[in-house]
Parts: sequence; C-alpha cells; structure tokens
Amino acid sequence: MVSDSIAVVTGGGRGIGQAICTRLAQDGADVVIADLDADEMQETKRLVEAEGQRALAVETDVSEQESVRSTVDRVLDEFGQIDILVNNAGIAGPTSPCEEIEQTEWDATMDVNLRGPFFMCREILPVMKDRGFGRIVNISSVTGKKPLLNRTPYAATKMGLIGFTRTLALEVGEYDINVNAICPGSVDGPRIRGVFEQQAEATGRSYDDVRAETEAQSPRNELVQREDIASVAAYLCSEEAARITGQDINVSAGKVMY
Ligand SMILES: NC(=O)c1ccc[n+]([C@@H]2O[C@H](COP(=O)([O-])OP(=O)(O)OC[C@H]3O[C@@H](n4cnc5c(N)ncnc54)[C@H](O)[C@@H]3O)[C@@H](O)[C@H]2O)c1
Repeated sequence: MVSDSIAVVTGGGRGIGQAICTRLAQDGADVVIADLDADEMQETKRLVEAEGQRALAVETDVSEQESVRSTVDRVLDEFGQIDILVNNAGIAGPTSPCEEIEQTEWDATMDVNLRGPFFMCREILPVMKDRGFGRIVNISSVTGKKPLLNRTPYAATKMGLIGFTRTLALEVGEYDINVNAICPGSVDGPRIRGVFEQQAEATGRSYDDVRAETEAQSPRNELVQREDIASVAAYLCSEEAARITGQDINVSAGKVMY
C-alpha cells in the first residue's frame, strides 16, 4: 500500500530518485529523501510537499554504515515506521578497459551500488519484520544483463543487485516483505548524456552517433523517461503487486527482453 506509507528513497535528490519521490508522494506516501547532496534534496522536498505529503531530507552516504544507521534512527524518531525502501542511489563508475581500472574506482562502485543497498536493508529489515510488512525496490540496470562496453564494475554491481534481490526476497517473503528490482534502460537526462560523452570519447565517435545508436537498440527507437521508472516503482509498492516478489523488471523501451 502506498497511501499512508513512509517511504525512504536513497539518491532522491535528483534524476530517477527525484521522480520516484514525487510519484510516491502523489500516491499518498510521506517521503524521506536520503542523499549525499544536501542542496539538491531541497528541490525534491519541495516537490513532495507540493503534493501535500510530509518530506524529510537527511544527508546520507549509503556506503557508510554509521551514516545509514543515523539516517534510519532519524526516520524512526520522526515517523516511527518505514514501509517502503527504494535503493536508488548509484554511481556510474569508470568507463575504461578492465585492465586500466584502478582498485579505488572498482571499490567505489561496489561501495555505493552494492554495499549501499546492503547497509540500507540491514538497518531497515528489522523494522519491517516487526511490523510484518515491507516493500523494497532496488534500482538495478539493463547493464546488469546486456553488456555495455568498458563498464565492468558497474555491470558487476547491477547484476549483483539482482542476485541480492532474489535471495533477499526468498528470505523475507514470510514477513509480507516483497523485494524487487527495476532494470532501467537508458533514461533521458543529464546523467546519461554524460555517459554518452564518455562513450564517444572512449570510442572516437560523435555524441550524436552514440546517442542514435543507443536509441536504435529500442524497438521504439527511444530512450526511457525517469517517470517510467517511478510509475513501476510505485506499482511494485502498491496492493496490486502484492504477489510480485524476487523479480527484475526491465523498463527499457524494449532494449532488453530477458
Ligand atoms: N540514468 C540512467 O540511464 C540509468 C539507467 C539504468 C540504471 N540507472 C540507475 O538508476 C539510479 C539513479 O540513476 P540517475 O540517473 O538518477 O543518477 P543521478 O546521478 O542523476 O542521481 C543519483 C543520486 O544518487 C546520489 N548518490 C550518489 N552516491 C550516493 C551515496 N553514496 N549515498 C547517497 N546518495 C548518493 C547522488 O547525490 C544523486 O542525487 C542509479 O542506481 C543508476 O545506476 C540509471
């Protein structure tokens, strides 16, 4: 159930996370925005409040255990419960051939994209288990399934997040806690434009060529909008999706079909 829920969305300060916060608020949830960037969260907070819902912005580094702990404590102090967790915070990591990647780059990608969801779930699951209800949505990527040139650390984290999702779903189903992943395709916006620029530089092609090539991977010849991801996240938290768990759902305009 989304209405009257308390939702925590990591990386909610901008991009897909901001769209998810706004959509959950439209569906009646109060929203906690947990992001590294204190300034960016203010705009999301305004968007949630504009929907008539309560919003709390908490500066959080999902890769740091103490930061995650203090965020969860703060949410419980303010709202007393957590019904929905969306693990959305993620970083692109390096774009380089595998043998040129530094250990620090590899570790940073793992720390945010995999350790972050682990820390968030580890802190919030006891609260959900006590209540006998929870909805967890992990934002993976089609790159966890379909290779993307020179992005080994990112791909490893996003496929890893699918394994994490399935195994956790198995563990917590008996508590009415559902765990699903969404695998977005290329979502239009500043982040993907940066990725296109990096790909263009790495392969010596123009930005327009890289973008057109990506669009052509969709049978619809288009990118995905961030609101498409938000509506599937809201659906997975709704009563209609009560018997959907352990799934990884592509929202990719058909770019990936498995
Ligand atoms: N944009 C795409 O095309 C696309 C495609 C597939 C999957 N994804 C995934 O969707 C998610 C959101 O992507 P986006 O494009 O909106 O990204 P974005 O870079 O626009 O936003 C990410 C947000 O996460 C926050 N963040 C980063 N590290 C953090 C940390 N350690 N702790 C807390 N917050 C942190 C950032 O401050 C930012 O607000 C990511 O997991 C990404 O891998 C995106």
